[in-house]
Amino acid sequence: MIAIGSDHGGFALKQEIMKYLEEQGIEYKDYGCYSEKSCDYPVYGKAVAEAVAGGECEKGILICGTGIGISIVANKVPGIRAALCHDCFSAQATREHNDANILAMGGRVIGPGHALKVVDTFLHTEFSGDERHIRRIQMIE
Ligand code: RB5
Repeated sequence: MIAIGSDHGGFALKQEIMKYLEEQGIEYKDYGCYSEKSCDYPVYGKAVAEAVAGGECEKGILICGTGIGISIVANKVPGIRAALCHDCFSAQATREHNDANILAMGGRVIGPGHALKVVDTFLHTEFSGDERHIRRIQMIE
């Protein structure tokens, strides 16, 4: 189960991503927001981060205007490694090296076509499991 959330700045891109997840047969839970009305990204960043940290969902996707605010929020929750990625190289590397459990993006930064490829890369790349990467993740914790 994928947890997904956005503020108003990420709402439109979130709709595209949810449609894509449905087409792919990937289950998700939408933690809001539910319209383009102005709202506060910390509410949705926290909700998704807690769903992932608590084990309710395996991974999360968060979108605000830039992806910055919402990733800062998510990374305050213990156990969360939220990565702001707008390219497939970063999405692959953060899964392989950081075992990132949340992907953050900016709906005002990236177009939907590219964003869906980043999502696909993030969701289908496994953590390498290398000793040095495990050690570094433990150092973060
Ligand atoms: C909202 O206008 C905007 O500040 C927010 O979506 C995000 O970009 C914050 O980092």
